[in-house]
Order: sequence, then C-alpha cells, then structure tokens
Amino acid sequence: MKAINVGIIGVSGYTGLELVKMLISHPIFNLVYCANTEGETTVSALHPSLLGVCDLSVEKVDSERAAQLCELIFLALPHKTAMQSAKVLLERGIKVVDLSADYRLNQENYEAFYCEHEDIENLSHAIYSIPELHGEIAKNSRLIANPGCHVTASLIALAPFLDHIDLSSPIFIDSKTGVSGAGKSPSSAVHYVSVNDNINCYNIIKHRHATEIEQHASALCSNDVKVTFVPSLVPMTRGMLACVYATLKTDCDPLALMEAFYTNKPFVRLRNAPPHTKMTSGTNFADVYATRHGNALVAMCAIDNLMRGASSQALVNANIMMGLDEALGIPLISYVP
Ligand SMILES: NC(=O)c1ccc[n+]([C@@H]2O[C@H](COP(=O)([O-])OP(=O)(O)OC[C@H]3O[C@@H](n4cnc5c(N)ncnc54)[C@H](OP(=O)(O)O)[C@@H]3O)[C@@H](O)[C@H]2O)c1
Repeated sequence: MKAINVGIIGVSGYTGLELVKMLISHPIFNLVYCANTEGETTVSALHPSLLGVCDLSVEKVDSERAAQLCELIFLALPHKTAMQSAKVLLERGIKVVDLSADYRLNQENYEAFYCEHEDIENLSHAIYSIPELHGEIAKNSRLIANPGCHVTASLIALAPFLDHIDLSSPIFIDSKTGVSGAGKSPSSAVHYVSVNDNINCYNIIKHRHATEIEQHASALCSNDVKVTFVPSLVPMTRGMLACVYATLKTDCDPLALMEAFYTNKPFVRLRNAPPHTKMTSGTNFADVYATRHGNALVAMCAIDNLMRGASSQALVNANIMMGLDEALGIPLISYVP
C-alpha cells in the first residue's frame, strides 16, 4: 500500500513524543513534518532519548506548509491553539486527529468550560471515537476529536453497565492520574515537592472531564447520565486508574457482562482481579475489572494516560480513518517492571 505522509504539530510535548515513537516505525504512515512554537531544532534535540533514532528537523508551526506536505496531521497542542490549526488544515482538505479538547464537546459545554469556540463549522462534523464503544465511525471522517484520558478510562469502565445501573442514583467516578497528564510545562501543582509522597484530589465535581463523560455517556445510552467525578494526582509519571461506583438495577454478573461487552476487542483486556496501571504502561491496552457488593457496582479501568488516554488511541483512530488495520504501529509490550 502507498505510504501516507503525516505530521505532528506539538511534537515537543509529552503526547507528541509518544506519537513520534510510534510513527517512526509505522508501516504506512511516513512522518515528514514536525513542528512546535519556535522550530529550528530537531526531534532528538527536543527529546534526547531519540538521539540516533529520530533526527527529523522540527519547524516553527506553519499550517499552510503542513498542508502542502501531509495528508494527515496529528495536533498535540493545547486547546484553543489546536482549533486554529485544524481550521486551516481542514480548509485545505487535510485530515486531522486532534488530541486536545477543542472538538470533543458541543458548543454549549465547550464554552462553559474552555473558551469561545472559533470553529463551529468543523465542530459539527468532528468524530468522537473510542473505537470499542463507537465502532468504526472514524472511517472516512475528516476530523477526529480524540477523547480525553480520564474520559477514556471512565467510559470504558462505565459503558458496559449503562443499561444495568439506576441512572437516577449517583454515579461516582474516582480517577487517579500520573503527573504527565498535566503536560510538560512546570507549575507549582506538579513540582516534585508537591507531587512526591503525596496524593491530592483536584478540580473535584467541576472538572471539565466530568462534562465530557456526561455528554458522551448520555449519547451512548440515549439517556441523561450525570456523574460525580473526583480526579486525583498520584506520584507516578504515567498511568491512570478510573473506578466507577454505581447502583445496579439488574441481577447481572458484572465481570461476565464486561467480558461479553468487550468480546473481540483486543485492546480491552478483562482481568480477574483489579488491574494495575503498570501492566498497560506504554501500550494502548485498557485493562478492566468489575464486581458487585449487593447492588453496588464497582467497575474499573487502568490505562496509560499518554497512550490509550491520548497518543495511541489517536493512532488507532488515524488507522481507522485511513482504512488501515487499527492495530498498525501500536505497541503491545508494557514497560514492566
Ligand atoms: N498529557 C496527557 O496525558 C494528555 C492526555 C489526553 C489529552 N491530552 C491533550 O493533548 C494535548 C497535548 O498535551 P501534552 O501533554 O502533550 O502537552 P505539552 O507536553 O504541554 O505539549 C504541548 C505542545 O504544544 C506545543 N505548542 C503550544 N502552543 C503552541 C503554539 N501556539 N503553536 C505551536 N505549538 C504549540 C508545544 O510546543 P513548545 O515546546 O514550542 O511550547 C508542545 O509541543 C493537550 O491538548 C492535552 O490536553 C494530554
């Protein structure tokens, strides 16, 4: 099959690095364009771990030039900046996989939690895709709104049970994230001294991702889903564990139900005990487990926030978008121990 030229805008960030690591050995995608704010450097200068592995040059971002060189662009940019690039690329017929939040929410929800939306036209056709939950909707789309990390883990744990839980009772989600979830920019919240030997909850209840979970869980079951979302920052570099607590209204066996729901979904692995984030580290796997205590459901999902929560899910979506096997270029071996 003919090679497909692709690019990464935001290559110097954490999710950009994960994209580079997968794309340089992808059998069809050919990484030809890398950009960040300043350019005039190389991938290996920005990411010294890639010295001698990937010495591609990195340019100052120029969406027009990206459009000349590439058929598909991954945007690993902060929200707001991403839609500014996406708009230009889409106008020129380039396919876009956006890792930011810019196209994940409807306009009302987006503007309540982020900023004014500057690309309503493309928002209307953006495809939000967790492939195991949404099927092959990414195929032939022009714009992927790649789901957030907390939302991916939470929805993968929750989705099998949407028809089996009482939606009028509280649904609690406790989601713990490694520090790389905050991106590469230093701040007091992610300072070593703040994070080491510590766990703290942040943005409880009002977190932007609660709205994303509610919007997309509601769409999955055509019902109104409300969640009480409590994220925590834990002293790990990468990894995420979402635990969902809800009230069952049926007599189901949660583990059997989860197994049936994810049959033939190779990137979701059913565990017979609570999953460990470490087992998914560096991969696209979502490891799941569920049990019940009376009518109390406990369902959980462990992922790597940078991979299944961002870059590897983006690559799976890009593979589907271009009519390729979804597993092309996706790493399967976790960083253990
Ligand atoms: N980290 C995660 O676990 C995770 C999970 C899911 C989704 N996401 C989303 O994915 C996106 C990227 O996250 P990240 O963690 O990789 O962020 P990051 O480490 O902070 O990297 C951000 C990247 O964007 C570039 N950038 C910022 N402003 C720019 C501009 N005006 N023009 C061109 N490039 C610009 C930066 O370039 P410079 O180096 O030049 O500043 C850098 O390459 C974000 O929207 C984030 O919310 C992240």
